[in-house]
Amino acid sequence: MKVGDFISVRDLEKNDIDFLLDKAEATEKKMAEGCSELDGKVVATLFFEPSTRTRLSFQTAAQRLGAKVIDFGSTSGTSMVKGETFTDTIKIVDGYADLLVIRHSVEGAARYAAKVAEHPVINAGDGGNQHPTQMMLDLYTIRKLKKKIDGLNVCLVGDLKYGRVMRSLMYGLAMYKANVTLISPKGLEMDVEAVKEVKQKFNAEIIETNEMNLRDADVLYVCRIQKERFTDVYEAERVQKEFRVTKEQIDGCKKDMVILHPLPKIDEIDLAIDKSPHAKYFEQAKNGVPVRMAIISELLKKK
Ligand code: CP
Repeated sequence: MKVGDFISVRDLEKNDIDFLLDKAEATEKKMAEGCSELDGKVVATLFFEPSTRTRLSFQTAAQRLGAKVIDFGSTSGTSMVKGETFTDTIKIVDGYADLLVIRHSVEGAARYAAKVAEHPVINAGDGGNQHPTQMMLDLYTIRKLKKKIDGLNVCLVGDLKYGRVMRSLMYGLAMYKANVTLISPKGLEMDVEAVKEVKQKFNAEIIETNEMNLRDADVLYVCRIQKERFTDVYEAERVQKEFRVTKEQIDGCKKDMVILHPLPKIDEIDLAIDKSPHAKYFEQAKNGVPVRMAIISELLKKK
């Protein structure tokens, strides 16, 4: 791998992704044995936005590799409430830790932090822009369940306008020549430039629609309405009430179709679907640990 930080899927070549997916697979096989590879290293998890999975799976990954973790909990417990800047906060933590994992509501915050910090920075989600480690665990899960990624029919369903996961994943899937269908409520379509970019770069077939036709899907990937990114919260709640994948909608689907979701899920998937053999999102979340172990290990190996 050539990159020293892990900020955007755009920084990665397909070879890098293949390498990391293979490494994560090998890591998962021997995860129970424990490992002291990063003994003496310190990983900082700095979440300026809420998180359950990304924060805890990064912390688990670092600890399973033998590293120690520092975390300031919520920003309300830091000197930022006294007016300390983001830049100074990053400089300080960079002086304590060997690697920084950052989530922030501002697009480009992780890229900026990577310029400020001397140690590697991993983007754990920046606004509606990118969530590259989620994309890695999504590709890992698809490859594990379907034994391939190329040629699969993948429907990305939900808030494609603000869903950073969907933006990163569309790019990753296009790299692998999957057939991507984008399905969103009206007004929450994927950014036009992002679609144009992957079509041009990868000669990808991307279908865009507001109709929920899942008949040919091998993978149905759903994300929630990103209410926190709407300027009009009532509009978000209106769409959230109307937008839902139901048991009836998946009844006519392929028997081996898998349903993925980055989680958290709110109302967008019928609860009854949790019990269906199609639902693989809890298994997907678990894959975050070996995938993030592979990424942390690779970035710290370079230093
Ligand atoms: N998938 C994901 O990013 O979940 P969290 O917001 O809980 O980290």
